[in-house]
Amino acid sequence: MARREKEHVQLPVPNGWFAVEFSRELRPGDVKPIHYCGEDLVLFRTRSGQARVLDAFCPHLGAHMGYGGRVMAETLRCPFHAWQFDGTTGDCTHIPYCERIPALAKIRSWDVQEKNGFIWIWYHSGGEAPQWDFPSQPVFEDGAAEWSEPRAFEKVLEAHIQDTHENNNDPVHFLYVHGATEVPESTIRFTPDSTHYQIESTHEAVYPNGTFQMTFVRDSWGLGLNCMDMKGIPGAGLMMFAATTPIDGHSVHSRWLLTATNNMVDLAGEEFMNNITSGIEQDLDIWKYKVHRANPVFCEGDHYLGDYRKWVRQFYTHPVGDAGRQEDR
Ligand code: FES
Ligand SMILES: [Fe+2]
Repeated sequence: MARREKEHVQLPVPNGWFAVEFSRELRPGDVKPIHYCGEDLVLFRTRSGQARVLDAFCPHLGAHMGYGGRVMAETLRCPFHAWQFDGTTGDCTHIPYCERIPALAKIRSWDVQEKNGFIWIWYHSGGEAPQWDFPSQPVFEDGAAEWSEPRAFEKVLEAHIQDTHENNNDPVHFLYVHGATEVPESTIRFTPDSTHYQIESTHEAVYPNGTFQMTFVRDSWGLGLNCMDMKGIPGAGLMMFAATTPIDGHSVHSRWLLTATNNMVDLAGEEFMNNITSGIEQDLDIWKYKVHRANPVFCEGDHYLGDYRKWVRQFYTHPVGDAGRQEDR
């Protein structure tokens, strides 16, 4: 057995809202096979413009409806024998060669919402209905006059979603992985029973237009969505919305939307955006080759991580490990 495999604690997929596509990538009539949270699914947009997600395999003879399925009004038509399924309820509404529709002709429909430029599904390992929600950020939706058109980028990463999310809440690694000159001063706001987690950090940054005291506020609602608001340059702003979705227990699909005030884009141009995207590249090898420690040994300087591990337990139906341990002194 490989060393990594032997040492690895397999974390389950957590519960929460997860993005399955950028809104702009799904037009009315589009049908896409998707695989997230260990599930085979079909994503489509109805003629009236609603994004819908159903289980992929038809209850009739099991065709994957993401390959050849067709949108017909508000339903999805299976490519094999043309049964039609309502996008909201999953009920079979029409069988072209049969009057009577069997009572069991139904497929699981997923809770879907569209917000902040993404299409989200609710995943719960026990099949429970959505237990919480998250706010809208208008700059990612209709756009705002002084903000640039959001840029999108995406990447599949070999990592568990908790490890990538934990990275945001690990100020020390900025020094060793991202070339920061000091550990950013950080403040965490969370309560163990709230799905909202906020970490605010300040550091000095050198940009083409000068040196500024920057404040990064990172808000999370569960593990699937993270909004970063960067402040510190007078009259300018930059916001990044990161959506991370488990493909399975070993990999994630991350999507980012990035927008800045137009004056910021005018000043720093693409360079500013590129600095942020290349920062993510610096984390990749750590995530790819690390193991997950369910019971890590923490030192006093790791109190942010200890707090984070306590918060994160609420998203698992069956949490793994404890919230970290510190050697007795
Ligand atoms: S397999 Fe879907 S209609 Fe027959
Ligand atoms: Fe990082």
